[in-house]
Amino acid sequence: MKPSPTARTTDVRRKTEGALPLICPVCEQSLSWGDRACVCPQGHSFDLAREGYLNLLLSHLRRSKHPGDNADMVQARRRFLDCGAFAQLSELIQSEVRQLLAGWEGDRRVNMADLGCGEGHFLGALQEVVTGPFYGVDVSKEAIRVASRRHRSSRWVVANVMRRIPFACDSLDIILSVLAPRNVEELARVLEPNGSLLLVVPGPNHLLELRSLLMVDTGNFQTKADAAVELCAPCFAIRHKKSLIYEVLLNRNLLADLVQMTPLFWRSTREAKGDMGRLDELRVTMSFVFLAFTLIR
Ligand SMILES: C[S@@+](CC[C@H](N)C(=O)[O-])C[C@H]1O[C@@H](n2cnc3c(N)ncnc32)[C@H](O)[C@@H]1O
Ligand SMILES: [Zn+2]
Repeated sequence: MKPSPTARTTDVRRKTEGALPLICPVCEQSLSWGDRACVCPQGHSFDLAREGYLNLLLSHLRRSKHPGDNADMVQARRRFLDCGAFAQLSELIQSEVRQLLAGWEGDRRVNMADLGCGEGHFLGALQEVVTGPFYGVDVSKEAIRVASRRHRSSRWVVANVMRRIPFACDSLDIILSVLAPRNVEELARVLEPNGSLLLVVPGPNHLLELRSLLMVDTGNFQTKADAAVELCAPCFAIRHKKSLIYEVLLNRNLLADLVQMTPLFWRSTREAKGDMGRLDELRVTMSFVFLAFTLIR
């Protein structure tokens, strides 16, 4: 079930063909993307950064000066993803998106957004197989800065997806959210009625060897997919679910990067991290659950 119409702004109810789906964070009217700035009809203007990304975080709504993943986490994530450890997950996402687009009616352009996109690894890989531009959104300015330097043909936006997602109602055909936080009511508001929500959550045994070594309790990974389905249930029906599990052999540097980019970093003791640092390599389980949802009408 979609949120009640009163939760929507009439100006942004429906997308028009070719219109940008982005909305102004102040008045919620459509934003036009210019060479140097994005502007709404009310005259609110948001400069594009040198790297070309757009920052829609309003300073008075920010709880921290640098929200989201910090620079060390972003760089660790970039190095780790570049080693190919998540390549199978990326291929699964590409194949799912290709299948969705194969059933697409007409030749109108597809509005796709990756919410909590980090440094843009998965959206960047999609650019190789599907024509964009797409939108990547993350609350971390550092992550978006890296993304916009690396993948120039997508549009990159700094915004908090747990609050108002900066898109018009019904404006997105495909929403991707990989290992990122989500606000279900907002996802339902911005997704087009026939659109698809694609989530990736950690599967059972994800990083099991590392979690055991660091003696960290990261909650029950057996139930994360069920919890995601339950959380989405008021607005979304599950269309299909796929599990992916494989092992990768990681050397000392990659193990350090993996720890740095996850909550394991904050939750493990210095001694446990020291023990891990003395390992030359470790075989680590990667386990993900891919969930595809449609809106409940
Ligand atoms: C585990 S990382 C996943 C990044 C990316 N999806 C990937 O798999 O490579 C989680 C991401 O969510 C972002 N994030 C956390 N809270 C957020 C929020 N409220 N709004 C937008 N992004 C958020 C973090 O900055 C981080 O980049
Ligand atoms: Zn405005």
